[in-house]
Amino acid sequence: MELWWWQLRRAFVVAAVVVVITQEGCVRGEDVTYDGRSLIIDGERRLLFSGSIHYPRSTPEMWGSLIGKAKEGGLNVIQTYVFWNRHEPQPGQYDFSGRNDLVKFIKEIQAQGLYACLRIGPFIESEWTYGGLPFWLHDVPGIVYRSDNEPFKFYMQNFTTKIVNLMKSEGLYASQGGPIILSQIENEYQNIEAAFHEKGPSYVRWAAKMAVDLQTGAPWVMCKQTDAPDPVINTCNGMKCGQTFGGPNSPNKPTMWTENWTSFYQVYGGEPYIRSAEDIAFHVALFIARNGSYINYYMYHGGTNFGRTGSAYVITGYYDQAPLDEYGLLRQPKWGHLKELHAAIKSCSTTLLNGTRTNFSLGQLQEAYVFSEESAGRCVAFLINNDEKSNATVQFRNASHELMPKSVAILSDCEKEIFNTARVNTKQNKRIIRSTKIFDTMDKWQKFTDIIPNFENTSLQSDTLLEHMNVTKDVSDYLWYTLSFQHNISCAEPVLVVESLGHVTHAFINNMYIGNGHGSHDTKQFVMEKPIGLNNGTNNISLLSVMVGLPDSGAYLERRFAGLRRVEIQCSKKELYNFTNYDWGYQVGLLGEKMQIYKEENMDNVEWSDVGGSSNQPLTWYKIVFEPPVGNDPVILNLSSMGKGEAWVNDQSIGRYWVSFLTSKGKPSQTMYHIPRSFLKNSGNLLVLLEEYGGNPLHTSLNTISLSTMYEPISHNELRYKNY
Ligand SMILES: *[C@@H]1O[C@H](CO)[C@@H](O)[C@H](O)[C@H]1NC(C)=O
Ligand SMILES: *[C@@H]1O[C@H](CO)[C@@H](O)[C@H](O)[C@H]1NC(C)=O
Ligand SMILES: *[C@@H]1O[C@H](CO)[C@@H](O)[C@H](O)[C@H]1NC(C)=O
Ligand SMILES: *[C@@H]1O[C@H](CO)[C@@H](O)[C@H](O)[C@H]1NC(C)=O
Ligand SMILES: *[C@@H]1O[C@H](CO)[C@@H](O)[C@H](O)[C@H]1NC(C)=O
Ligand SMILES: *[C@@H]1O[C@H](CO)[C@@H](O)[C@H](O)[C@H]1NC(C)=O
Ligand SMILES: *[C@@H]1O[C@H](CO)[C@@H](O)[C@H](O)[C@H]1NC(C)=O
Ligand SMILES: *[C@@H]1O[C@H](CO)[C@@H](O)[C@H](O)[C@H]1NC(C)=O
Ligand SMILES: *[C@@H]1O[C@H](CO)[C@@H](O)[C@H](O)[C@H]1NC(C)=O
Ligand SMILES: *[C@@H]1O[C@H](CO)[C@@H](O)[C@H](O)[C@H]1NC(C)=O
Ligand SMILES: *[C@@H]1O[C@H](CO)[C@@H](O)[C@H](O)[C@H]1NC(C)=O
Ligand SMILES: *[C@@H]1O[C@H](CO)[C@@H](O)[C@H](O)[C@H]1NC(C)=O
Repeated sequence: MELWWWQLRRAFVVAAVVVVITQEGCVRGEDVTYDGRSLIIDGERRLLFSGSIHYPRSTPEMWGSLIGKAKEGGLNVIQTYVFWNRHEPQPGQYDFSGRNDLVKFIKEIQAQGLYACLRIGPFIESEWTYGGLPFWLHDVPGIVYRSDNEPFKFYMQNFTTKIVNLMKSEGLYASQGGPIILSQIENEYQNIEAAFHEKGPSYVRWAAKMAVDLQTGAPWVMCKQTDAPDPVINTCNGMKCGQTFGGPNSPNKPTMWTENWTSFYQVYGGEPYIRSAEDIAFHVALFIARNGSYINYYMYHGGTNFGRTGSAYVITGYYDQAPLDEYGLLRQPKWGHLKELHAAIKSCSTTLLNGTRTNFSLGQLQEAYVFSEESAGRCVAFLINNDEKSNATVQFRNASHELMPKSVAILSDCEKEIFNTARVNTKQNKRIIRSTKIFDTMDKWQKFTDIIPNFENTSLQSDTLLEHMNVTKDVSDYLWYTLSFQHNISCAEPVLVVESLGHVTHAFINNMYIGNGHGSHDTKQFVMEKPIGLNNGTNNISLLSVMVGLPDSGAYLERRFAGLRRVEIQCSKKELYNFTNYDWGYQVGLLGEKMQIYKEENMDNVEWSDVGGSSNQPLTWYKIVFEPPVGNDPVILNLSSMGKGEAWVNDQSIGRYWVSFLTSKGKPSQTMYHIPRSFLKNSGNLLVLLEEYGGNPLHTSLNTISLSTMYEPISHNELRYKNY
């Protein structure tokens, strides 16, 4: 019975809070509840279309327009994760400024009359470095993340409470008249629950109770968690929840889809995942037909992993294939097709929510779902053809319907087709890239080649190979492993062998670049073997281990291992130098990073020189001053002539780049890097590149991006559906 606690509370809250309704999405200040059909807001069941937009993956200057385009696309809800490691970089020190301004983001949602779903986590995965956890948790004694473990629970509760209190203090919960109608605790925990044995289920129970006790006046969900304890709602994440979801774990909970993947994240070396508008619409319509009442597009706008925020091997552009692309431009026909679907479903939502539902077969692979309100004489039908290859002709209510392959036809009055998932009316659009500046003027570039440290230069030393993250504490991607040895055996063709658990290694011997090796998202471990030359006498080996984001998923994240595992120089079958247990010296980060030479104020701390012809030197910093492109179109930097590194514009990192890691089709995964307009000044903009491999800055360029055809709104007459 305790599941109905909020109904009891509601009686008091309703009496106590009075808030004026002004717009759709602005609630009266009642608790949000639910029943077996849907969420109940202001006493009414609601069918909700939601889209994920993550505030730190765009800029505050973009938020208004992104949310506006989501609203125009027929969404009622904006869903976001909360990014713990952005907000609490050190224990008890908080940051809610700039791109981290969660309150401003939620208020922007409210200002546009939409609802918000806050997925607090605070573990979020999300292809975000360390799954959103702050790295300092790693050094909390005795900690085991995401388990029934006191230290972890302490910090998780502390942060969750901080966020809920912040939202309450700003009046942002629906029960206070704000937009937040739903929150999430944990994230896809069931995937790893078994690894924690009996500490898994007890953690789930603790997390649910901890969250519910925070009394937000809005329901909590746990996604992919069939044992979500009451009153927390278990929800589905995936591509095909209409087909795969086992349903809520209680008849009193609604059927909700918290992540409908509009595409998939892309990794370095991977191709973009293209999901058609028809496929998305098919599964959404199917989910609605099968009692779904809340669907969230993951992502509706992906955006950019600025700085070092992407997780291991994930590219800087995030879900560019979403209905709004990385720059916030409409991706057609996806955006328009889904907009029509939302409008069609909304036009019959009362019948869908209040009608009685029946379903029956129309053929071997064809079925009908019918919602009817007898008293009002209203009826809505979903005619589904699951046959992926052929049309099917079916009889429904004395009429013959030809159903296209893999389609859902939505019939208002159970008669007239108002939407068909397989019939796309929206025109496809194209992005046009205009080159506004090629940075090919040699004398405008300057460079600084970073220093390769030797063993004598290092202050941290150890007699073994140390774990990468535990040494860097994630203040940098880079960790130098150095040693010095006397070459005293006969070695005709020495070969350096370095085994790493990730992600990239660059090798220098006696200050000479020997080469590199790297793993991939799916196979992080790799072995690099390079023939080398040795001096008689003393030799210095300096190995630069590089991480491309911290891991973001799986059990026991606090025990992950990255960096070097084995280092040898093989001379012959019998003779080798085994350096695995040896005197190693460590340096965290590059010199230029330590001196922050990507910032204008620190530039002069190193000596820059002219670039000359094609420079192509590893570990080199480049800088140039440029004028911004005119107009308001999004600006992108084409780095296709570079290798791997990071880029800054006016002191702000626009993200890591890795152009030299080619896909199976022989192309870079990402060559265009977004420079938000708000990062640019009217003149004298500073671009700094840190290049690890080589690369030629003289072929980089500045571009703007726009769309080929303007979006034309589809008139409601054209759709010819009856608006109840
Ligand atoms: C969270 O922890 C900090 C210290 O790290 C403490 O100052 C604060 O009071 C705690 N907050 C809560 C809500 O427990
Ligand atoms: C979710 O989205 C994917 C495409 O992103 C689509 O194929 C799938 O059918 C959708 N499912 C639901 C239930 O909306
Ligand atoms: C949908 O809801 C109806 C009644 O509300 C129920 O009988 C049916 O089992 C539900 N279907 C699914 C797939 O959950
Ligand atoms: C459903 O029906 C009830 C009463 O029959 C009504 O109060 C409510 O407004 C209806 N809900 C919707 C969404 O139309
Ligand atoms: C009704 O739909 C459910 C799934 O939503 C399915 O399991 C059941 O077989 C369908 N019933 C008929 C008669 O087709
Ligand atoms: C279908 O036609 C039959 C005979 O003409 C009629 O009795 C029945 O009511 C019709 N059914 C519907 C749903 O219109
Ligand atoms: C399938 O049905 C659609 C719509 O009814 C029709 O336009 C199309 O020509 C049909 N295709 C085939 C192969 O029959
Ligand atoms: C590293 O040590 C060597 C030898 O002592 C010295 O020549 C060099 O200048 C040092 N480099 C740095 C960056 O301190
Ligand atoms: C991390 O480093 C500290 C010493 O700095 C050491 O005590 C600890 O065992 C290391 N932890 C791991 C997981 O390597
Ligand atoms: C060769 O050098 C290694 C250290 O690099 C030392 O341990 C070993 O004793 C030396 N061997 C000879 C024969 O000098
Ligand atoms: C290194 O020493 C070996 C023999 O000790 C000698 O044959 C060789 O020429 C020397 N190499 C160099 C580059 O001095
Ligand atoms: C090198 O040393 C490590 C650590 O002592 C040892 O585990 C490994 O087997 C050695 N490798 C070879 C090839 O002997």
